[in-house]
Amino acid sequence: MPLVTTKEMFENAYKGGYAIGAFNVNNMEIIQGITEAAKEVNAPLILQVSAGARKYANHTYLMKLVEAAVIETGLPIALHLDHGDSFELCKSCIDGGFTSVMIDGSHLPFEENIALTKKVVEYAHERGVVVEGELGRLAGIEDAVNVSEEDAMYTNPDEVQEFVEKTGVDSLAIAIGTSHGAYKFKPGQKPQLRFDILEEIQNRLPGFPIVLHGASSVVPEFVEMINKYGGNMPDAIGIPEDMLRKAASMAVCKINIDSDLRLAMTASIRKYMTENPSHFDPRQYLKPARAAIKELVKHKIVNVLGCDGKA
Ligand code: G3H
Ligand code: 13P
Ligand code: ZN
Repeated sequence: MPLVTTKEMFENAYKGGYAIGAFNVNNMEIIQGITEAAKEVNAPLILQVSAGARKYANHTYLMKLVEAAVIETGLPIALHLDHGDSFELCKSCIDGGFTSVMIDGSHLPFEENIALTKKVVEYAHERGVVVEGELGRLAGIEDAVNVSEEDAMYTNPDEVQEFVEKTGVDSLAIAIGTSHGAYKFKPGQKPQLRFDILEEIQNRLPGFPIVLHGASSVVPEFVEMINKYGGNMPDAIGIPEDMLRKAASMAVCKINIDSDLRLAMTASIRKYMTENPSHFDPRQYLKPARAAIKELVKHKIVNVLGCDGKA
């Protein structure tokens, strides 16, 4: 089976009340860990590549590694550009075989976001590629941000219909309180998401797939392991898994996970190197790192996303 788009995955996920995991990939071990996990639990997959990942690993290397994963697993896998920031980058990924791209115009004024997104959609759709757009800005932890500024960053439900109609996007990333990275809430702050906004968006766009970025749970087990083996991440905190499960049961069809993979890999390597200080064969520490990613992804698929058995 060749690489697929997310169209059918999202239709089934929406109807079934589950979400597809979109995992960021940067190298062979990460791709293997994720795809071996998905194979074991028969889950559809989105593998996503950021501009930084593409720069680090090279488009062709990533493309060929993902093609190898398709051959090895036989799973429906979509290859997606994460946070495309220009028409040129999206075009390059579309021309180079990706089946899905994100054009992230969320920092632009509304009309400019529409114009840029529409341009990418026109190019992509003519070539059978699907497009994710974004409205609203993901929160970052900034002490200087006051409540009304914080409110202004959430996606405004009044804008979603116009955005989707005018651009023709296939899915929409929204901001309801998640954020990128390992520090999603301030120390002592109670994690919360604006499910009221998600519900309102769902009402305005019935049946339309919504995307959640910044959705790592920052698994405490890995943070503890990193701290135990010489790291220093005392205030790392993520989105509670029950909240992600709830989002997946609603209109959220794609849940983006990167930081949790990084933490699993780093925790495993720190532990291995501490326990085996004289080892220097990369295969020795990358093997448990790959296994840690595999276990994490299986857990996410079965306990958080609910897409096991849906491939
Ligand atoms: O949302 C961003 C992803 O975690 C990718 O991060 O740009 O460092 O590859 P990156
Ligand atoms: P996390 O940093 O929470 O893993 O989010 C990843 C993401 O949204 C990639 O686009
Ligand atoms: Zn993101």
